[in-house]
Formats: sequence, structure tokens, C-alpha cells
Amino acid sequence: MASNPSESSPPDTVLVVDFGAQYAQLIARRVREARVYSEIVPSTMPAAEMLAKNPKAIILSGGPSSVYAEGAPSLDRAVFEAGVPVLGICYGFQLMATTLGGKVDNTGGREYGRTQLTVSKPSSALFEGTPDEQQVWMSHGDACSAAPEGFAVTASTDLVPVAAFENEERKLYGIQHHPEVMHSTYGQQVLEHFLYRGAGLSPSWTTASIVDEQVAAIRAQVGSKRAICGLSGGVDSAVAAALVQRAIGDQLTCVYVDHGLMRKGETEQVEKDFVAATGVQLKVVDAADRFIDALAGVSDPEQKRKIIGREFIRVFEQAQAQIVAEAPSDEPVAFLVQGTLYPDVVESGGGTGAANIKSHHNVGGLPEDLEFELVEPLRKLFKDEVRMVGQELGLPDEIVHRQPFPGPGLGIRIVGEVTRERLDLLREADAIAREELTAAGLDRDIWQCPVVLLADVRSVGVQGDARTYGHPVVLRPVSSEDAMTADWSRLPYDVLARISTRITNEVAEVNRVTLDVTSKPPGTIEWE
Ligand code: XMP
Repeated sequence: MASNPSESSPPDTVLVVDFGAQYAQLIARRVREARVYSEIVPSTMPAAEMLAKNPKAIILSGGPSSVYAEGAPSLDRAVFEAGVPVLGICYGFQLMATTLGGKVDNTGGREYGRTQLTVSKPSSALFEGTPDEQQVWMSHGDACSAAPEGFAVTASTDLVPVAAFENEERKLYGIQHHPEVMHSTYGQQVLEHFLYRGAGLSPSWTTASIVDEQVAAIRAQVGSKRAICGLSGGVDSAVAAALVQRAIGDQLTCVYVDHGLMRKGETEQVEKDFVAATGVQLKVVDAADRFIDALAGVSDPEQKRKIIGREFIRVFEQAQAQIVAEAPSDEPVAFLVQGTLYPDVVESGGGTGAANIKSHHNVGGLPEDLEFELVEPLRKLFKDEVRMVGQELGLPDEIVHRQPFPGPGLGIRIVGEVTRERLDLLREADAIAREELTAAGLDRDIWQCPVVLLADVRSVGVQGDARTYGHPVVLRPVSSEDAMTADWSRLPYDVLARISTRITNEVAEVNRVTLDVTSKPPGTIEWE
């Protein structure tokens, strides 16, 4: 796709002021679902700095505090006086009320959960076209009893006389409920009314426009220099690499370290399908022997991780040194591409400095003392947006919708020593489970489904007329939002039965299939 310069200027931005992270991220996502670009900023950011970002609208998020609590976050009045449309939600609504001269009381009561909202002003910009009675999600103690002067009250509940207000002229809006959660039936509509009507924005932030903007930004950053990118086979590095390739073509070289701990077909997916889809210049390093030799005799999970991490860095550094040595001297390799995502940026303070590299998620990742400038084209994106960009770039579905897979790979799914034979067994069993889950259409319902080989356990079985003494495998299907917590997936029995029958028939040495029915916590997702 050619990049159109008029489409590559920065998108119209809505700032989401964060008074409580869990709410702010969700609001930012909902705004983006309305195809308007949003960015989260801390409530401690000075108003002048917020306004210098030239936001087209500002949303004040909910938060856990009472506006009257000591040390409760506040907001400079200037935010309401800059002529920028503002929507206050929950805490942000109450803050707006008190800052602009309205009244918020501590009622002693609390509204929490599903609540009936009565829209009291039919001409409300926010509620137009939605029913007079609607279900919303509430979570607050204090309640607004009087709107600021010049504001019309647009909704109420049994407990709260002023559950929403607006000042159409000043483009200031407030709602007590949480429109960002699914339980608020018309929440998305109310949010979109604010964006499109209140702030006059249009739904123009699309995956195509993200690609255009990033391609322009990468070109501007990298110029004629060269970049390298480590491919792990995962979604993030694949999409980051594909974007950079789109921007600078052969100035990018990707490195894929095959540590021999990948699942069946995954190395080929990178080597063939990914290269075919992107035209990327790829250096594959077959280091399986080296990793498996280094893991010989090791059963302790943390030691396995350390060894795999150490070997990975050594192999990657060698490959990188080769690429640097082969590069023409006037085109130095100065950039390293990383698939850092927006939640990591927000959670690490949202700074613009070096990427915050989480050690846990970069075992099998990169050394920290690399002398490269980082290129992070996914820094502004949530995971689902990364997948959409991947689709837009024409990456194969198998890569775009790949389940999370740990850097140390199958190395931490063999309980016991890692050997070539055990890896082969596990690879087969895992491939069967994946095939059957895909065939049953369950891929998008499951977060991930590790298959674990209990290599140090044997049990007696019977196959044909013969007694066997084989190993069990464990199926660990989980559903999750973010891998921090997870529940075991209630897979249909017939799917479980097919997986079990096929694995015990087709994988010699495995004579039992078990199901892990533990949530996280207390269990982790992986067994090691
Ligand atoms: P746990 O097992 O801690 O896993 O519940 C949470 C998520 O992280 C993945 N995981 C890893 N990813 N290196 C990684 O890159 C690792 O060492 C590692 N250990 C676990 C796991 O697959 C799950 O998605």
C-alpha cells in the first residue's frame, strides 16, 4: 500500500485522564473501538501539558477516591476553560461538578452494579436515541445533588438526583455511570455521541490509517540506516517486523533463532509463510542442538529458563554481529525493532524513554545493553489492535491469531529433563490438541492451551493386548483476559474425548491424557 502523506499526519487525539488505571484503559479502548485515537495521561499531568497535546476532546475517568477524601486527585480548572469538549465519568463527573460550582454529597448510601437510569431530558446530546429507562453500571458512594450553573440535568436514578448533566454550549458533559463496561447497555452509544456530536470527531482512525501513520513515522526515524528485529514466532514481533518492512524494505533484517523448542510447524510458518506474506529479509539460525545440549540433565524450571535465556542472547548476539559486519559502512545497523505494546507503556509510567523490558516476558528475549536505538511501532496499540494491523498487512491467520506461547517454548512444558525424544512426543501431542480445538472452532474462546508432558511420571496402561508403561500428558486449556488471572476452560466433552483418543492412539509412549481443572491463582497457566 502506498502511503498517502495526508493520511499519515498524527490522528485526532482524545486524552483519557487516568484517575484509576483499570477504568482509564477500558475507556481508551472503547474510544478506539469508535475509531477515534485515544491516549491515556496521568491525572497528575499539568493542564498546560495536557492542552499542549492539542486534544480534540478530554475524558476524565472514574477512580476509587471520593472527591472529598484527603489527597484525592484534582484537576486544574483550565481544562474546562480551554474550549476543548470534556466528558467526566464517575469520579471525573463528580470532580467536574465540584470544580465548576455544583454540589456533591456524601449520601451514606452506595450504588454498585446494575442500576436503572432515567433519562430526564429528551434533547440530551449524549442520550439521544437511547431509551428513557436504561440499565447502567454504577460504582460510587458520593452523589451529585446539584449541577453547576448553566448545566442541564439529563438523567437521574432512585438514589442520585443528578446522574448526568451537560452544557451544550461549552461542550462539557458528565455522567455518573460507567459507559465503558458492557453492563451499561447503551454505554458505547453514549460515548460515541460525546465523540461524534459533542466533540465533532469522525470515526477515521482505522487500521489502514494506523499503518500509514506508522510507516511514515518509521521512515522518519530510521532514514537510510538499517534495522534488525528478532522474530519469536509470536504476534507482536511478527506485526512489528511486518510494519517496519513495509516502511523500509530491505533495510530491515529479521533474525529468527530456532531453539528447537517450538511447536510443530511454527518454525516453517515463520520461515515460509511469514516471509512470503511480507517479503522480509530473514536470517534463520538453527540452534536446536546447542539449546538441547545445554539443557541436558536439567529438570529445574528456573534453571531451564536461565539456560534458554542465556543461550538465546548468545546466539542472537552472534547473528546480530554478523549482520552488522556485513552491512555497508555508510549504512550502519543502528536500530532494533521491538514489539512493545501500549499496556506495557502505560503501566511503566507512559514515559517516552527506553522500553521497559519485563524480564518474565522476555526470557528468550533480548539483552538489555544493546547499543541500538529502539523502533517500537506498536507502542500505541492494544493487543487486539495489533492483530487487526497484522491482518491489514496480510499476515497469515495462523500468526495473527496465535495463542500466547512462552519464550522458553516447550522447554517449560516438559516436567523433567528436556530431550529430543521428549520434545518430539510433546510436539505431536500438542499438534493434535491444537488441530482438534481449531476444528471445533474453539480457538477464539480459549486464551491458550498448553499441553504438558509429565516426563518423570509413568503409569500402567493397556493398548491392544499389551501392557504399557507410558507417560501422561496434561491438557491445560484456560480462558483469560490478560494471563494475570485465568480460569480453566469448560471444553465440550466430545472435544476432550477426541483429543484424548487421538493422542493415546497416535503418540507412542503417551498412554494417559489428563485435564487440569485449576484456576489461576492458585495454579499458574504453565506447569513450570
Ligand atoms: P503463568 O504460567 O505465569 O503464565 O501463569 C502467564 C503467561 O506468561 C507466559 N509465560 C511466559 N512467557 N517467558 C515468556 O515469554 C516465560 O518464561 C514465560 N512463562 C510463562 C504463559 O504462557 C502465559 O501466557
